[in-house]
Amino acid sequence: MAEEGFPVTTLVLPVTPGGDSAAVEQAARLVRAGRLVAFPTETVYGLGADATSTDAVERIFAAKQRPYSDPLIVHLAAAAALLSVAQEAPPLAWALAERFWPGPLTLVLRRAEGIPPVVAAGGPTVGVRVPAHAVARELIARAGVPIAAPSANRFMHTSPTTAAHVLADLDGRVDCVLDAGPCSVGVESTVLDLTRDPPRILRPGGVTFEALRALVPNVEAPTRSAPASDGEAPAILPAPGQLERHYAPRARVVVFDAQGPAALAAIAREAERYLARGERVGALMLDEEATALAGAGVHIQTLGPGDDLAEVSRRLYAALRALDELAPAVILSHTFGTSGLGLALWDRLRRAAGGSLRGVAAEDNGQP
Ligand code: TXA
Ligand code: MG
Repeated sequence: MAEEGFPVTTLVLPVTPGGDSAAVEQAARLVRAGRLVAFPTETVYGLGADATSTDAVERIFAAKQRPYSDPLIVHLAAAAALLSVAQEAPPLAWALAERFWPGPLTLVLRRAEGIPPVVAAGGPTVGVRVPAHAVARELIARAGVPIAAPSANRFMHTSPTTAAHVLADLDGRVDCVLDAGPCSVGVESTVLDLTRDPPRILRPGGVTFEALRALVPNVEAPTRSAPASDGEAPAILPAPGQLERHYAPRARVVVFDAQGPAALAAIAREAERYLARGERVGALMLDEEATALAGAGVHIQTLGPGDDLAEVSRRLYAALRALDELAPAVILSHTFGTSGLGLALWDRLRRAAGGSLRGVAAEDNGQP
């Protein structure tokens, strides 16, 4: 028997930013009726519903099979509507909005009464952002309500950066997908907790730590470099809904925390172990690295040049999904440093790998 409310027929509506608005108006009507609309943002596709309606928001959790403990981000068409979602906004929130909105920055503030608890895992706060994608803002403006939206994937799975990715996870579970082509940022928004002092990054994302620090000099990075005095400290501070395994394809993922020749040598050695057993291997590689494994029988997805982490971010999830479709025994990758977008990539690759990264052996570092 089908789950209650599923399947529905998923309408796919092509849209172009600034183009004919009929499709966006149709989607906005569905939002107003309490239905689910997947829509493009600059980061990833979102699974949207009327943020002011408990029933509508509950449909999001059902469609994604997501636990209620994982809070949703509320999306606005413009910063001017901030106080419809947040009870109060400190001057710093307005300064950040002025500098980074519309864009991939989510601010965690105290939740306003008009936003039901189900949006925020029952807690007193709410995540809010104004997306940069024109179609997203037009949808919200036409709906006339703030739109709650997680990434439009099944719970814990790799986020979608195209409408086809949305359908692969949610066809028959959402009422409509607005298809505006691939997302331009490719990794999710940075989540910044402004309810504490100093503010803390809960999830690194499209707005870099360095960019935030320019405006918020005391902002806390999500990583902790020194272990706590009472023993082993987690590398990442806990944030609601941020599971150790997340953003993950079905295949096993192994990520070496290194770059350059050391990382390539570790990947080649690991690939060889699987290939020797006759197993299929996938690898994510920079353009300039692809030849290192050429002829080895490894399925390679390139991510762009190493000096362009914006391109690497844009392509990461599509590449993971493409490799996953081959049902490999393992997908191998390495990290891209922790500067700039490298930090968001580090975080997503680590979680895709189930929460831990591999070190590289001393001989791979050229050390005795
Ligand atoms: O780029 C993005 O942020 C995309 C697009 C669609 O906007 N959305 C997205 O949503 O990635 P989602 O639900 O997949 O991830 C949101 C995460 C939650 O898992 C949680 O870690 C954090 O944001 N979050 C949301 N509300 C929060 C709150 N009130 N307090 C702390 N963290 C919160
Ligand atoms: Mg998500």
